[in-house]
Amino acid sequence: MNFLALIEAKRDGGTLSANQLREIIAAVVAHRIADYQLAAFLMAVFFRGLNAEETTALTLAMRDSGDVLKFPKDARPLVDKHSTGGVGDKVSLPLAPLLACLGFRVPMISGRGLGITGGTLDKLDSIPGFKTLLPAARIVEIVQQLGCVICGQTDRMVPADKKLYALRDVTGTVPSIPLIVASILSKKLAESLDALILDVKFGSAAFMQTKADARRLAKAMVALGRKCGVNTRAILTDMNTPLGHSAGNWLEVKESVACLDPATSGDPGLSDLRELVLTCAAHLLVQTGKAKSLNDACQQAEGCLNSGAPRKKWDEMLAAQGAELDTFNHKLTLDHTAPVVLELKAPSSGFITKCDARLIGEVIRDLGGGRLTKDSAVNPDVGLDRIVKVGERVRSRDMLCRVHAADCSQAKAAGARLEAAFGISSQRVKKPSLLSETITH
Ligand code: URA
Repeated sequence: MNFLALIEAKRDGGTLSANQLREIIAAVVAHRIADYQLAAFLMAVFFRGLNAEETTALTLAMRDSGDVLKFPKDARPLVDKHSTGGVGDKVSLPLAPLLACLGFRVPMISGRGLGITGGTLDKLDSIPGFKTLLPAARIVEIVQQLGCVICGQTDRMVPADKKLYALRDVTGTVPSIPLIVASILSKKLAESLDALILDVKFGSAAFMQTKADARRLAKAMVALGRKCGVNTRAILTDMNTPLGHSAGNWLEVKESVACLDPATSGDPGLSDLRELVLTCAAHLLVQTGKAKSLNDACQQAEGCLNSGAPRKKWDEMLAAQGAELDTFNHKLTLDHTAPVVLELKAPSSGFITKCDARLIGEVIRDLGGGRLTKDSAVNPDVGLDRIVKVGERVRSRDMLCRVHAADCSQAKAAGARLEAAFGISSQRVKKPSLLSETITH
């Protein structure tokens, strides 16, 4: 393969054949292409784009660059959810056991956070003993037995994405729609799914800041997913304010368990998280023909969540993945696990107009809850909880949130920065709607 000719072809706006793209991916995985040439190729794709055929060929070649999970035939459909990431986005945690209880199999292969968006695996790492790295055979075994697993990609799954993503990250070529589509879908297609729901976020703390960009990405992923035989839908959701009332790894696990607890079904602080979890489950019920309408599906999902069965399934999943359940359940009873907790107070009375997810995400990352580079260590205990919601009424000196930090000076510095994250007005403010659009084709 003359890779230089392929770089030049893409640089000049040419189209690459499926064969050429397969050869490129084979060479990437075999380390036969120098990083500087691959970087040049990625930049050419960034500027020239890939058409639908090229994107499909690239995605399938990436999927086939490693192991694809193989499941025995079973009446339970294989489903998953992918989120483009946000602050406080812990939906995967309660969703996996809920879906298992609704009669699905869920091989949820998740990732780590980078920057301000949290990663499911980082959240799960805060559970004592929980293993996120499992061999493919064990992933299949747990899914067949329990209906769900949440774990990381094995070294042998989609190795082409690992290599390409690491280079994109340092060459300014991450925000390219065809490269994002191929990266996300190659990993989801390696799970051998029947149906997939995509939560594409827009707003200040989202990968796609505008709704129009989120829609473009969602449409591209839905079209390609369907073309590859996976019934794919996307929802566009608001990421200008954090989801739920906690953000930070352990605090989000705690909130996820609360969401699974039927006793909290009326808790207003959990209503947006519950709404999103139930909506994702409802779409998958409709996509797989297990419900006739979204309304029926929502009721089915809500009934299941309120039954308490998904809470029990969560414990079963934890035990299967090595968690020390007694230690975990004791940890849940603690008010906090970080050394210092500081309350941020409202400076005046009124209605909350703003709760800036981007700033909150940055503060949590700087408290040690996220990563600045791939190799940064993450502190599981830091973050914010009891975060007020937009539209809520507060009185002067009421709590806006609690800051969980490693020491007093970090807590104070975070508190000072967070003052700008909240806005208060004497005028009543409407609660922003979380769900914006559904993309089905
Ligand atoms: N998440 C991924 O897995 N890949 C991308 O390219 C962007 C977000």
